[in-house]
Amino acid sequence: MPLRVVVLVSGSGTNLQALLDAAGPAAYPDGAPYAVVAVGADRPGIEALARAERAGISTFTHRVSDFAHRAAWDAALTESVAGFEPDLVVLAGFLKLVGDTFLASFGGRLVNTHPALSPAFPGMHAPADALAYGVKVTGCTLFVVDAGVDTGPILAQAAVVVQEDDTVETLHERIKTEERRMLVGAVERIAREGFSVEGRTVRFG
Ligand code: GAR
Repeated sequence: MPLRVVVLVSGSGTNLQALLDAAGPAAYPDGAPYAVVAVGADRPGIEALARAERAGISTFTHRVSDFAHRAAWDAALTESVAGFEPDLVVLAGFLKLVGDTFLASFGGRLVNTHPALSPAFPGMHAPADALAYGVKVTGCTLFVVDAGVDTGPILAQAAVVVQEDDTVETLHERIKTEERRMLVGAVERIAREGFSVEGRTVRFG
């Protein structure tokens, strides 16, 4: 049975697309090691949802502003994700912090991709922060989500050299090229080998 993956998104969904493409029949004619079984979002009308719909994958959307409390949004998100019985939940450009209920349900099988080499530059503006700091090397990180902001144990990283003429956009695009490769490789490995977390150390297998 392939690993059941639910992906949460907020934007263009190129990481989602990479996961979809890598598990498609062209790559695995006899069946992929994982399957994206649903895509959830915190906002409607985004390209990531359109990508899921074009691929025939179930989608759901919960806007924080539609709920009286953040905790109610978190509970609804948890219920929708749980309905798809995921083995793994991937935050792929999901621009909301999940809450306690979500973490209690999916902690240990919830991963997030971030466009910086953690622990540098947590938060929403990592490529801009890296450029402003003047680092010569940045990159991307896939980590197991904990209660902090981009602080969880690290599953995978890839480095990207900063060019002298980089803008936030050109740097982020090069990071995303590496990020897609990193994410797909790690999800394939999780599907085949699983992983365990001991303290801050993550081991496949
Ligand atoms: C990715 O670079 C992801 O790491 C970043 O948003 C981009 C989404 O791209 N996420 C964050 O910055 C979260 N802190 P995509 O929608 O094309 O996959």
